[in-house]
Amino acid sequence: RPRVLSGMQPSGDSLHLGNYLGALVNWVKTQDEYQTLFFIPDMHAITVEQDPAELRARTRKTAAQYIAGGIDVEKSTLFVQSHVPEHAQLAWVLNCITGFGEASRMTQFKDKSAKGGADVASVGLFTYPVLMAADILLYRPEGVPVGDDQRQHVELARDLAKRFNYRFGETFVVPEAFIQREGARIYDLQNPSAKMSKSSSGPNGLINLLDDPKVTAKRIKSAVTDADTVIAHDRESKPGVTNLLEILSTLTGKSVETLVTEYDGKMYGHLKVDVAEAVVARLEPIRARTLELLDDPAELDALLAKGAAKAREIASVTLADVYAKVGFLPPL
Ligand code: TYM
Repeated sequence: RPRVLSGMQPSGDSLHLGNYLGALVNWVKTQDEYQTLFFIPDMHAITVEQDPAELRARTRKTAAQYIAGGIDVEKSTLFVQSHVPEHAQLAWVLNCITGFGEASRMTQFKDKSAKGGADVASVGLFTYPVLMAADILLYRPEGVPVGDDQRQHVELARDLAKRFNYRFGETFVVPEAFIQREGARIYDLQNPSAKMSKSSSGPNGLINLLDDPKVTAKRIKSAVTDADTVIAHDRESKPGVTNLLEILSTLTGKSVETLVTEYDGKMYGHLKVDVAEAVVARLEPIRARTLELLDDPAELDALLAKGAAKAREIASVTLADVYAKVGFLPPL
């Protein structure tokens, strides 16, 4: 079966609604058609400063949220990036075929480093997209289900795969970004022209999977809309209402057009109440299941160890192939 692979950083206390609707929902759908691998990119997390104890806890928490959100460990391989050393090993080789200028053009690096200045941004943050390319190419997947903001990174992985294949012979599969139309970009509730983000959204702009449902409902009800009263889908002039409509559309399966007709003549308050209800109804069981799973960390760790062993079976074959092709002398 063709393969699919993806991951989410364990950098916050919880995954947020953008992670869930933009990525996790898609991952779950791929499980029946593809051989699926989902991992927790803890090595990516340390490209910015992390508290070690917190990182460890958040890595487990992220794994628990994958499972609670619908990742079935019987169908999917679930593992932690740092448990599979081949990721770092392949990243080094790919660093050596990536142009400095090419890496400098990655917009996420430009955005993140702009905030702290060149001395605060680490070299790890700079080379982050190359590590992500290694994550992907190691498993020769056909698809990478991600939200819209990861498009440029998957594009780099494609370029590096083609370059390596051209220089050293057919080695990597050139992967596609699997980005769904709805939910590909969820926006900050307080600043609906910016994406919802763990690092840049304020608390009231974020919906976290693990928040108390009362908090979640309150945040949606106080989402920024506009001074108008018409419920319409228009990214430019009505970003707040548009975001709410898209969230409701992904959760109910109804098209945005249908929703616009249904809310014709109704007030913003109606829409907000319905969005709050739909989000809470979806997230509440995920939250409960996550907390249950976290009660037994040993069980989670055992699952992750099993996943890493399975992932290494694939990763070690690719890495050996790459090492031979670039001319490394094999150890006796
Ligand atoms: P990360 O951890 O920032 O986000 C995880 C996933 O959530 C999606 N996402 C969103 N989708 C819709 N609306 C939003 N507001 C929103 N915010 C985030 C992201 O597109 C992503 O799919 N570099 C990656 C992690 C990574 C990875 C990989 C992914 C490392 N190696 C290999 C795929 C394959 C990242 O930081 O995602």
